[in-house]
Amino acid sequence: MSYSISEEKIEEITGLTDIVDIIGEHLSLKKTGANYIALCPFHKEKTPSFSVSPDKQIYHCFGCGESGDAISFLMKYDNLDFLEAVEHLADRAGVLLDMSKEKVKPDNDFLKVNYKINREAAIFFHKNLMNSPNAIKYFENRGIQKKAQKYFGLGYIPNQWHDLLNHLKKLGFEEKEIEETGLAIKSENKGNYYDRFRNRIIFPIFDLKKRVIGFGGRVLDDTLPKYINSPDSIIFNKGRNLYNLNNARNYTDKGIILTEGYMDVIKLTINGYNNVVASLGTALTDNQVKLMKKYSREFYISYDSDNAGLKAAIKAVNVLKSHDLNSKVIIFPEKMDPDDFVTKYGGARFNDRLNKALEYFDYLDYYLNLTHDTRQDKGKLGYIKEINLYLQHVKNAVEKELYIEKISQKLGISKESILLEFKNNQRKAFNRTPDSIKKLDMAGQNASDYELDLIEILTNNHEMTKYIKNKYDTSVFYSTKNRSRFYAILNDLSKEHTDEQGTYKRMDLTQDELKKVVDDYIKKIKTDQLIKIKSEIKTKLLTEPENTQFKEQISEIDKEILRLRGHHNG
Ligand code: CTP
Ligand code: MN
Repeated sequence: MSYSISEEKIEEITGLTDIVDIIGEHLSLKKTGANYIALCPFHKEKTPSFSVSPDKQIYHCFGCGESGDAISFLMKYDNLDFLEAVEHLADRAGVLLDMSKEKVKPDNDFLKVNYKINREAAIFFHKNLMNSPNAIKYFENRGIQKKAQKYFGLGYIPNQWHDLLNHLKKLGFEEKEIEETGLAIKSENKGNYYDRFRNRIIFPIFDLKKRVIGFGGRVLDDTLPKYINSPDSIIFNKGRNLYNLNNARNYTDKGIILTEGYMDVIKLTINGYNNVVASLGTALTDNQVKLMKKYSREFYISYDSDNAGLKAAIKAVNVLKSHDLNSKVIIFPEKMDPDDFVTKYGGARFNDRLNKALEYFDYLDYYLNLTHDTRQDKGKLGYIKEINLYLQHVKNAVEKELYIEKISQKLGISKESILLEFKNNQRKAFNRTPDSIKKLDMAGQNASDYELDLIEILTNNHEMTKYIKNKYDTSVFYSTKNRSRFYAILNDLSKEHTDEQGTYKRMDLTQDELKKVVDDYIKKIKTDQLIKIKSEIKTKLLTEPENTQFKEQISEIDKEILRLRGHHNG
């Protein structure tokens, strides 16, 4: 059952909410006059026509006509229902929703059936477990007794094809509906339905409202695949949920422990840690971080200490860092996972590991030392190159400076040299165009108008010309004409003259601000070029609609354009 919220409450919540903040968390907004603009997230476009008004607290897209307020934005963008969106805003605004007082109204019928089926299935799996000595024995052998089996609602399904289906049909659900939840699969040739989960122990996955949204199933032996999971559906999205967050969120005063798997969560809970979640075997996503950061700002990464786990931990600490969140990494001996460790050494020793968990920078250092021998020059270079990639996620300038200091001391290289090398690498990364696109680059016969604008800025501006030369070299210009104009300006560098900044001087921009303008121009030039290439491919696609290579190139280009526009999404 869901609940509804009074008009007054909604007014209170929206009153405490700024739509610019809400949308700004998802899109990169540029201020133009009284409003903000962005590329519309609801339709494909090349130039921004999505406008946000802080005065009216609404958004409107002149391209596709979408419009609304903060609530409808979240509903559409995050795929939330009305009440979920309001709840989210209430959380942010610190408004308490007194659920018991709100009048009760039923859920959307269609979704309700999905949740109902899942709940019935979870009950069926659990009852089955209670009657299956072999499955109970499997859990007990792994140290999971009845109490934990109940707490996590664990289950079992024997090696049959229609056990669950028949049970659900008896309860009145239709095959089509059951298939919708992913619990049944329709066979392609015969057209009949059969159970997805067979001969597996079952882990139900709950959302924050304690609704069953999906399942994981593990074999009882070494058969492959070890796990299968419910497919993503209208109610289940792996990247948007965390296993056990529904329980863990009530125990977050000592932070949240992040693990990779079901077993890790269960075994740590049994050993006294209730604040454990799992990302269900996928790399930690931005959405999962957003979910968790409502409940804690302190995180422990407790992944498997094998190569894959250590690497996944690097990704996780950086995703958290990009949300300005700190995390520590717990390391286990002999490539163990948390379950292996507590099984062998117990919960008290786990606490030792937790107290010795590595801080952000120390973990980067630990990880990099595994693959770079920094006693040698080659190792030092590799170390610097790689750590630069990770430190991009550090937004705090002071913090970054502290890390560079540490690197300098460790490697015996001056901070200046390290910074220079960072910059060089960044330049290479910027100039890096995916090979597949590079091949398509066509000398830019009709180059972007921005090229000329940029030339204008550079004329008579020593400082900026040097800036471009050092940061980007000549690859900035696609038209041969503009490229030779640029050479002429470069030539001029050696001659004495005074620095003017033309229009920009009159606009009172500092050199640093002007650098940002220049960077922006270069991004626009690159983006324009990509858009041109894309439209040429699209034309070709008209005559060869089945050409998958063209399609791949287009999606490469789209990704590259997004990257240039500064949308980083995992
Ligand atoms: N996983 C998955 N599908 C697989 C393998 C793994 O979905 N084929 C997910 C599961 O959520 C699993 C997690 O990734 O819990 C971690 O995988 P792994 O470390 O292999 O399993 P454990 O959780 O350690 O399970 P066990 O101890 O039973 O081997
Ligand atoms: Mn394990």
